[in-house]
Amino acid sequence: MKLFVDTGDVEEVRKAAEWGVLDGVTTNPTLIAKGGKGFKETVLKICELVPGGAISAEVIATDYDTMLKEALEVSSWHPQVVVKVPLIEPGVRLVKTLSDKGIRTNVTLVFTVSQALMAAKAGATYISNFVGRVDDLSTDGMTAVANTVAMVDTYGFQSEVLVASVRHPLHVVQAIEAGAHVATMPFKIMEMMFKHPLTDSGLTRFLDDWNKAGLTIG
Ligand code: G3P
Repeated sequence: MKLFVDTGDVEEVRKAAEWGVLDGVTTNPTLIAKGGKGFKETVLKICELVPGGAISAEVIATDYDTMLKEALEVSSWHPQVVVKVPLIEPGVRLVKTLSDKGIRTNVTLVFTVSQALMAAKAGATYISNFVGRVDDLSTDGMTAVANTVAMVDTYGFQSEVLVASVRHPLHVVQAIEAGAHVATMPFKIMEMMFKHPLTDSGLTRFLDDWNKAGLTIG
């Protein structure tokens, strides 16, 4: 499964990229605004920090013509840019246009399998299924992920199912169980994926025993 970090903070991308396990970065208007730098500047810096990674940059307009202009603009910035498009009617139309041109897309704000079907049929590269925001409403967000993975497999769509709105490492585990292709998560969640108290206590004991014995390597 691919791991993406969900952030507009260049320093977080730098740290996650150093681990060598990062496949891409997703941004959204909220995260770019929070990052505090210009949109193009941030996206280009992220592309540089994650060579070959898929870097999602979202269009802002909600009418087809302006969305198309914005999509062509952001995709011209760097070959790694994936145009992020909301699942609205002009958005689906835009995804079809971009897909026909060979421009990669990430369809965002997807909550149901029927929405995901529209994105898949339009040729979306990634379908961003939001989980945490559904869980917040006392409903299981991961059900739509599992059903979307099944839908993509059953009908042979090329789209990858991307689990977004991830709130904790268990969401990542559940995304794996559902067979999702990608999980994007805040930097702090990716950091938490390393952690286990038994790893820490086990390592402390190994090193204590080693040092007590006065051993050295080489
Ligand atoms: O970028 C989309 C997504 O991952 C947002 O997550 O935590 O704002 O629901 P959240």
